[in-house]
Amino acid sequence: MRNSSRSSVDPFIVMDVMEAARKAEEGGRHIIHMEVGQPSTGAPAGALRALGNALENNALGYTVALGLPELRKRIAQLYGDWYNVDLNPERVIVTPGSSGAFLLSFTALFDSGDRVGIGAPGYPSYRQILKALGLTPVDIQTAPENRLQPVAADLKGQKLAGLMVASPANPTGTMLDRAAMGSLINAAQAEGASFISDEIYHGLEYEAKAVTALELTDECYVINSFSKFFSMTGWRVGWMVVPEDHVRVVERIAQNMFICAPHASQVAALAALDCEDEMRENLAVYARNRQLMLEGLPKAGFTKIAPPDGAFYVYADVSDLTDDSRSFAAEVLEKAGVAVTPGLDFDPVRGATTLRFSYARSTADIEEGLARLALYMASRD
Ligand SMILES: Cc1ncc(COP(=O)(O)O)c(C=O)c1O
Repeated sequence: MRNSSRSSVDPFIVMDVMEAARKAEEGGRHIIHMEVGQPSTGAPAGALRALGNALENNALGYTVALGLPELRKRIAQLYGDWYNVDLNPERVIVTPGSSGAFLLSFTALFDSGDRVGIGAPGYPSYRQILKALGLTPVDIQTAPENRLQPVAADLKGQKLAGLMVASPANPTGTMLDRAAMGSLINAAQAEGASFISDEIYHGLEYEAKAVTALELTDECYVINSFSKFFSMTGWRVGWMVVPEDHVRVVERIAQNMFICAPHASQVAALAALDCEDEMRENLAVYARNRQLMLEGLPKAGFTKIAPPDGAFYVYADVSDLTDDSRSFAAEVLEKAGVAVTPGLDFDPVRGATTLRFSYARSTADIEEGLARLALYMASRD
């Protein structure tokens, strides 16, 4: 049987790193994981309690496609609490993770062949999902002086049907401030491009508060998730906010693609929204880890790093050390016992000379990882 040409998407290189790390561990080695992009903590205690109750009292069948009404309402309230934005709960759609929201939004907004701008470096699945849907991802090569984020001038003449941004971003952790976000929204609207804002790392910010696109316009899709701040990656639950006149369009697609997000996860997510104190404790760990990274990475020799405003990543330009980040990462794993992600996942062009370090694990792990990196780098001199 033949495969479609749109199914020929690239693998996630970080998965190969994880597999190599697993094999090393199987062989008895102790590996520090700076490759994984997820919290090592589980879902908040309140979420687990709520699910425990639901397991006893609720058949947990399908929910309506747009999600549990009380969850949509509570998510809308979050926009009031976090950003002072008055959001109509009818505009909130619960999704199977933000990954499910990408499928829904790209399907709802674009026609086959449409060109959609994404920042490079950026989260790899944007490109692969766009390709798998028969759309054309357009890499926007971002500049260090723009915090490795797209700027308005990048859209000129690109004939984009859409622009996808992320703030804080993966792999860089950099953010768009209000002025930068506003100017991108204006530029996208001027070009007739739909604006999609991936806000999955909101809540994980260290210097300034992240700006939601909804503070600036209602004419956008905002995507978020319980995976990162709420520490619920495996639960596969997220949400998106769409303009009022798009709700029914997305609802019809969601009914057919997914029926609904997992009911059990929606119950847990509703309770997680009232567990902010526990989430803030996790955030304090990331803040401490980030400080250690900012001190330790340059000392080890990784001096060219993007300003890590949020999320739990540091993205380093290692062009003075290698032009093959994949084999460099393999060497770091083998010689230092630290798993890191080569930049090629995030930027097919310049990623050969970049690495992403994640600091989502425990502080003890980060300290040990930094010590190993310093030792290894010293041994190369
Ligand atoms: C920027 C970004 N968006 C989306 C996702 C996918 O998240 P979810 O678990 O909500 O599908 C990730 C995962 O790492 C990410 O880094």
